[in-house]
Amino acid sequence: MNTIAKKYNIAIFASGTGSNFINIYNNICNGNINAQIKLLISNNPNCRAIEFADKNKINYKIINNFRFKDNQIDNVMLGALSNYEIDLIVLAGYMKKISKKVIEFYNGKILNIHPALLPKFGGKGFYGMKIHESVIKSKEKITGVTVHVVDHDYDTGNIIYQKEISVLKSDTASSLSQRVLELEHRVYPEVIRNFLETI
Ligand code: GAR
Repeated sequence: MNTIAKKYNIAIFASGTGSNFINIYNNICNGNINAQIKLLISNNPNCRAIEFADKNKINYKIINNFRFKDNQIDNVMLGALSNYEIDLIVLAGYMKKISKKVIEFYNGKILNIHPALLPKFGGKGFYGMKIHESVIKSKEKITGVTVHVVDHDYDTGNIIYQKEISVLKSDTASSLSQRVLELEHRVYPEVIRNFLETI
């Protein structure tokens, strides 16, 4: 008997260029991830992720403290997510801390990708290019990517995947960020696909 595989409902959170978001979208379109993106949440109305969602008819919601009072943000976020039966929240370059209330509601079902080998180069203040600048400054020989489940603190949740790459002698923070980002694009869809099978 043929059983039809469940399509998972995912929400993606992104703040910047959105290359991971677009890459996940492409992996869904070509059947690599058995899911649909029900909602994109961003704090940044001018980011490329929002522009892409708009063009590709993906639902999106901009949630930031220009549009909402600080004490409303949790409920606005939970309200937006509750319109869909979200199985998994995927953070893809989302630069805001997720509130305790949202983490508790989606306990164990929020993934984040971090462009370094946690626990090194993680925590408050370590995001985006700052991470690669610190890796170069510390003369690290290897760096890489980490995917972890999100918990109450910055970058401390359970690590489910890591992959290393060498830091080249010729690397600058910029060239390193590019190579790490390419690695993210190769591995994040696979990690998401495998994780979905466990929930
Ligand atoms: C990615 O390198 C991601 O790992 C990093 O921001 C970049 C976003 O790129 N995330 C963090 O630093 C979170 N702490 P993108 O917008 O092109 O996907």
